[in-house]
Amino acid sequence: MKKVLTGTALALSLAFGAGAASAEVKVGFMLPYSGTYAQLGEAIENGFKMYVEEQGGKLAGQEVTYFRVDDESNPSKGPDNANRLIKRDNVDILIGTVHSGVAMALAKAATESDVTLIIPNAGAVAITGPLCSKNVFRSSFSNWQPGYAMGVVAAEDGHKKAVTISWNYAAGKESTDGFKEAFEKGGGEVVEHLTLPFPQVEFQPLLTEIASIKPDVVYTFFAGGGAVKFVQDYAAAGLKDQIPLVGAGFLTDGTLKAQGESAQGLRTALHYADGLDNELDKKFRENYSEKYPDLPPDVYAVQGYDAAQMLAAGMEAVDGDVSKKDQMRDAIRNATIKSPRGDFTISKSGNPVQDFYLREVKGMDNVPVKIAVEDLADPSRGCKLM
Ligand code: PHB
Repeated sequence: MKKVLTGTALALSLAFGAGAASAEVKVGFMLPYSGTYAQLGEAIENGFKMYVEEQGGKLAGQEVTYFRVDDESNPSKGPDNANRLIKRDNVDILIGTVHSGVAMALAKAATESDVTLIIPNAGAVAITGPLCSKNVFRSSFSNWQPGYAMGVVAAEDGHKKAVTISWNYAAGKESTDGFKEAFEKGGGEVVEHLTLPFPQVEFQPLLTEIASIKPDVVYTFFAGGGAVKFVQDYAAAGLKDQIPLVGAGFLTDGTLKAQGESAQGLRTALHYADGLDNELDKKFRENYSEKYPDLPPDVYAVQGYDAAQMLAAGMEAVDGDVSKKDQMRDAIRNATIKSPRGDFTISKSGNPVQDFYLREVKGMDNVPVKIAVEDLADPSRGCKLM
C-alpha cells in the first residue's frame, strides 16, 4: 500500500527528507585580516564574493552566507580558529588560508571533521603531498611551483651562482627548494640560503652578506608587507643594479604602489600577470577595479575568485546539495576552471595544473614576458591519491 504523508509529517519530510537541500550554503573564511598578510586576506575575500555576486548571490541555487575568522597568520592559534568555524559556526565549506603554517592546522582540522576545504593561497607542499586528502583543494599553487618556474628561467638566462633568501618557515623553504631543483638541473648552483624568522624585516645583515658573496642572481620568497620592505631595502643597499633580484611573483604582486621605483624592472614567476591576453581576465579586472577602486586586481583576488568557481563547479554537480560530499569533491577534481589567469585543471592531489608566467615590473604592472613553464603540475610527492 502506498504510504501517504499528511500534515506535520509531510512538512518534516519536505524539510529534512532524503536529498532535500537546505536553501543556503555556509562558507567560512579563515584568513589573515591583520599583520603582514592582511591585504592578501582581504583581496581573497573580495575576489570570492565578487564571483558569487556575479552569480546573483547564489551558487547552484543556494544563498551563500559568510562567517569569518582573523587567523593573524599565527600557526599556534590555527587549531582553535579552525574549530570556531567548524564546530561553533557549523560551516559547510572552509576557505583559507594565506600562511602555510596556519594552513597545515586548518587542513588537519578540516580532514578530521570531513569538511571540504579550498585553500585560496597557502602553498604548503605537504598538503598536496604526504598529507593530501580528498576533502582538500587549492585554487592557488604549491610553493614548489613558482620557485621551480623561476629556476628554469634563471638557468636559461645563463646564471650560474645563486643565493636564495626568505623567511624561515615552510613557504620560504619550499619556494627556494623549488628554485634550487630547477636551477641546479639547468647547470647552476645555489651557494647559500639565507633566512630570517617570519614576519621579521631586519634585512640589513643579510643584504651585507649577499654583497660579499657576489652571486650572479638572488632568488627570494617574500610576500605582503615584508615583500614591500625587502624590495625597497635591496634597492637602497645599492644591490639592484649589481645583482639581478628574481623571485616567486608574490614579491611584486599587490605591492607595486608601495614599492614604486625600487621594483621597476624586477622579473618574477607566477601563475598570473597583469594584462594577459584573455577576455575573461579583462572582465575580471574591470569589475574588480570598479568594485574596489583602491585595490589592484592581484593574484590573491584571482585565487579568491577561482576558489568560488571551484566551489560552484562542485555544487552544480550535486544541485546545491553539499551533503553529497564525495560527488561534489569528484566534480571539483574533474573541473576545468576558466580563470582570469587562463584555464587550469586540478590534479588528483587537489592542486592547480597551470601555466607559470615570467613577468617584468613596468610602472604599476607585472607585465607578462613569456610563459616560463607551461602546464606545470606540482609533483605531489608522497600523495596517495596520485
Ligand atoms: C605561504 O605561506 O604559503 C604563502 C604566503 C604568502 C604568499 C605565498 C605563499 O604570497
